[in-house]
Amino acid sequence: MFWFMLLLAAGAAHAQGLILPDYVQSREAYTHIRLYISENLPPQHTNDYDPKASKYYSFSILAGVTAAQAVANRTAPDYDPLLVLDHNVPLAWRNYNKIAQSAQALLNEASAKISMIEEMIDLCGPVSPQQCNAEVQAKVIQNPFAYQQPADLLLLLGTFSKELRSSEPVVDIVTQERSEIPFLINNVHDPKYKTLVEDLDNAYRKMREVQFRRYNPGGNKVSILFG
Ligand SMILES: *[C@@H]1O[C@H](CO)[C@@H](O)[C@H](O)[C@H]1NC(C)=O
Repeated sequence: MFWFMLLLAAGAAHAQGLILPDYVQSREAYTHIRLYISENLPPQHTNDYDPKASKYYSFSILAGVTAAQAVANRTAPDYDPLLVLDHNVPLAWRNYNKIAQSAQALLNEASAKISMIEEMIDLCGPVSPQQCNAEVQAKVIQNPFAYQQPADLLLLLGTFSKELRSSEPVVDIVTQERSEIPFLINNVHDPKYKTLVEDLDNAYRKMREVQFRRYNPGGNKVSILFG
């Protein structure tokens, strides 16, 4: 009987482990991708003689078109990712600085909106990711009003970041070769690219939902919105 109960307990712990949200891993992936995007879209890039400039422009077209795919209505009957591509390539081509600035603004907003959960992760100390995920989850469950949406946002950013991270070697070759347009034409119907677009859409929608909330232990819950 004792062993049977021990087995049940182990099974329950295992099952719980499986459903535990991977906050630590999501944060790690997002931190990496945030830097990757920032490095590939430096602001106010005016030096045409910089040999890297061509790579940055290529990246901005990939980013601009992919962001346009993410906000397009993909359930509309006349939706065609090639039309979205056709419409947005010239816009992306002419708007490097705008894309770089918007991307940085979105990354800043995302980071600000998940900062409460990042602070919880920092408080975990030297424990395993699994243990830290459990500690963070306990705090989220304790005060879902303050923490559930930022926690969900972190997980969605993590999903997008892991997906993009797995494509980094390909993206680096494409931007090096300046083959972004053929790459996009060949990939808009590819399941991997479609998944990336959906992950970006999900993270972006959640970010729009999340408002800057600060939980005041004194009992007042204040909402602060930044324009
Ligand atoms: C997207 O298209 C579908 C189908 O035409 C429509 O029902 C839906 O309202 C559209 N969504 C938005 C946000 O425009």
